[in-house]
Order: sequence, then C-alpha cells, then structure tokens
Amino acid sequence: MAKLAASILSADFGHLADQVKLVEPYADAIHIDVMDAHFVPPLTVGPVVVGSLRPVTDRVLHCHLMVEHPERLLDDFAEAGADMVTIHLEAAPEPEPVIGKAKERGMRPGLAVNPGTPVEAVFPFLEEIGNVIVMSVEPGWAGQAFLPEALPKVEAVRREIDRRGLAVDVEVDGGINVDTGRRCVAAGATVLAAASAIFRAPDPAAAAAALAAVARGEG
Ligand code: DX5
Ligand code: ZN
Repeated sequence: MAKLAASILSADFGHLADQVKLVEPYADAIHIDVMDAHFVPPLTVGPVVVGSLRPVTDRVLHCHLMVEHPERLLDDFAEAGADMVTIHLEAAPEPEPVIGKAKERGMRPGLAVNPGTPVEAVFPFLEEIGNVIVMSVEPGWAGQAFLPEALPKVEAVRREIDRRGLAVDVEVDGGINVDTGRRCVAAGATVLAAASAIFRAPDPAAAAAALAAVARGEG
C-alpha cells in the first residue's frame, strides 16, 4: 500500500495553510520543493515556509532539496521542523556526510535521482536512507508530462530494496495523476508525489482523495 505526498509547488501561496488543510485528510506528507536557482533554474521556498507550516499540520513535512550544497541548509530545515529531507545525488555525489548530518539533526534522509541518472547510483546508500525519489520529470517545474522511463527505475530499486529486506520508501515525483500513479504503484512505488493533479484541480480535496485511493490500490 502506497501513500500520497501533496506537493505544494502548485498551491496558492497566498493561502498556503488553507491549501494544506484542504488536502491534509488524504495526504500522508506535505512535499515541499526547495529550489535554489542554481541546481535548477527556478527559485522557490525554504525553511521560513517550513516553519510557518509546522504549527499548521501534523503531517510529515518532507523537503525535496533541489539545491547545490544541501548540507549548508540542514540545520535551518531541522530547526524549522522538517521531518524528512531528500537531497539529489547529482548535487551531492558523495552523499554520506549529508545523510549523516540529516540523521543527526533528527530528519529522515532520502536520495533523489534525475531522469538522466541511473537508479543504481543510489544502491550503495540504501542502508542509510529512508526514501528514494525517482524523478519522473526534469526537476524544476510542476505540470510537466510523466516520463515513462521512470517505471523500470522504480521496479529496479524496489527489487533491490526487497532483496535486501529494507524498509525504504520509493517515491515517484513528477507528472503523477490517477493513471500514471496507478502505473507507479504497480511498479513498486510506495509514495506518490503530486502537485498540479491536486492543486490545479477544480476540487483539490477530491483530487487528493482520488490519488490517495490510487496509492492504496483502490482507485
Ligand atoms: C518538480 C518537483 C515536483 C513537482 C511535481 O521539480 O520536484 O515535486 O512539484 O509537480 P507535478 O505533480 O505537477 O508534476
Ligand atoms: Zn518534488
């Protein structure tokens, strides 16, 4: 059974707390896309927004760090109340110290791979982490089309996690809707991250409910 992560990238930031509350009944985690205008072209939000959301929700706050030098931000995210932090292997090719620091600061660490990075690159670190993000779009923007090349990557990392008997989540991020979400769950994903399919829908709560059902294998 998989879980739903609501990515706030497509939310109305003028009413962010309300938007989170709308989807909270259906989302296990709030996925916060942190972009630095270097690792990816856009600039988004950081620890200040995490700190504002912390008293709003008891859901897992998961920061997806699309930034260079992620290690420099870990203290601030921990202090702001982040529960999970995922760094990109492309930004930290030797991620062990960053993973270690995240754990020391009480955050569950994860590793993300871009569409062009083989998922096998995370295999050496699976024992150290709680989450793998397989990107199914190029990082940087919401609303892009799902890249089906992500599916064999999900299968491969799921197989390796199961082979080693680990409890690592496999999260798919980008272009997730009820159709692509279903395919990801069938491939072995345990977390579906979705932004525009939720927050650009006419009824975000209903859209989140539908995606959560897909994640549970009921949709
Ligand atoms: C892309 C972000 C994704 C994005 C997904 O860089 O990491 O989390 O918000 O947006 P959708 O679901 O619209 O593809
Ligand atoms: Zn993301």
